[in-house]
Amino acid sequence: MSPIKVDLGVGVYRDLSGNTPVLASVRRAEQEILGKQTTKSYVAAAGREEFNSAVEEMVLGAAHATRRDRRARTVQTPGGCGALRVGAELIRAAAPAVSVHVSDPTWGNHTPLLGSSGLRLERYPYYDPAAHQLRFQAMLERLDRAAEGDVVLVHGCCHNPTGADLDLGQWQALAQLLARRRLVPFLDLAYQGFAVDLDTDAAGVRLVAEQVPEALIAISFSKNLGLYRERVGALISISENEARADAVLSHVLQIARSIYSMPPDHGAAIAAHIFADLTLKKEWIEELTAMRTRIADMRGLLSRELRRAIGDGTFDFIRAQRGMFSLLGVSPQAVERLRDQHHIYMTSDSRMNLAGIMPHNVAYVAEAISAERLD
Ligand SMILES: Cc1ncc(COP(=O)(O)O)c(C=O)c1O
Repeated sequence: MSPIKVDLGVGVYRDLSGNTPVLASVRRAEQEILGKQTTKSYVAAAGREEFNSAVEEMVLGAAHATRRDRRARTVQTPGGCGALRVGAELIRAAAPAVSVHVSDPTWGNHTPLLGSSGLRLERYPYYDPAAHQLRFQAMLERLDRAAEGDVVLVHGCCHNPTGADLDLGQWQALAQLLARRRLVPFLDLAYQGFAVDLDTDAAGVRLVAEQVPEALIAISFSKNLGLYRERVGALISISENEARADAVLSHVLQIARSIYSMPPDHGAAIAAHIFADLTLKKEWIEELTAMRTRIADMRGLLSRELRRAIGDGTFDFIRAQRGMFSLLGVSPQAVERLRDQHHIYMTSDSRMNLAGIMPHNVAYVAEAISAERLD
């Protein structure tokens, strides 16, 4: 085996030692919880109330119109995947004939998570990997032709796999189109805090949720709390009025009961404890900032090394994009050569996890990409 193996294929954060650590704030919260826990009895299908209200506030903001008008309802789910799946079942039960429009490209699991509920999936143009650019006009034009009542899945921030997000003006244009065409947004927020900060990263989600009568928001704490295997997530449903919100909530709980009965408690107990304790929350936000900064640093370093190796700014987009992933934009054959000849691993669509880049391997990776990028 090569001494230089660079794994850019995984979907988890890695620190400078290559580990996916338990955050110190999480470890401390966990110890405090375990010391105090008196029962392992069942929890409700909606999970922990204090978790749900803290999540709703973190995602929508304390003063959001949907909260003021009591139109938002939040339930704890087994990770973001659980939220996506419950949301899909809800859509299927309410409107079996609608299509769900997902971005091209999108995270590979969206297809099984949404499609296996029986919903029809369609794709809207989102990003051109060869030009390293959003296809925003094409996206709007395609969605303008969607049927009324169709669902549009949008990544809240740190788009996976492209790292290319909408700016606020684009979010605004999208929100207007969704409202005008009566399309239902399904917002997937799995990386809150990984782009800029907790509030800024939710700005698009908040803006859309404010301007439409109905929306779903799937939330994951796998990345920002490093709680991957504990399965911590939530589904927020926004409805047109309070009575409808209660009806949707009872439907969501019925679906949750029919799939997994109730969400796992341990990770949500940790998250809720951190959100409620000022000192722990401050510590967590510092750790989140450190993860985000490390990724941004590696983005800067890799684009600089690529500029040095290639002699032009072809890969400068890597620095400007956000979150853990970017598409290198090379062919599957080039991906194979990077793997077979240089031991650099990424998915065949050339998705790189920037958290796999280290200061000691970045020049090596840049040289290899420079050598293999063209067919
Ligand atoms: C875009 C996106 N949505 C949702 C998730 C859900 O994650 P989990 O179920 O682990 O919370 C992920 C995880 O990789 C993701 O990348």
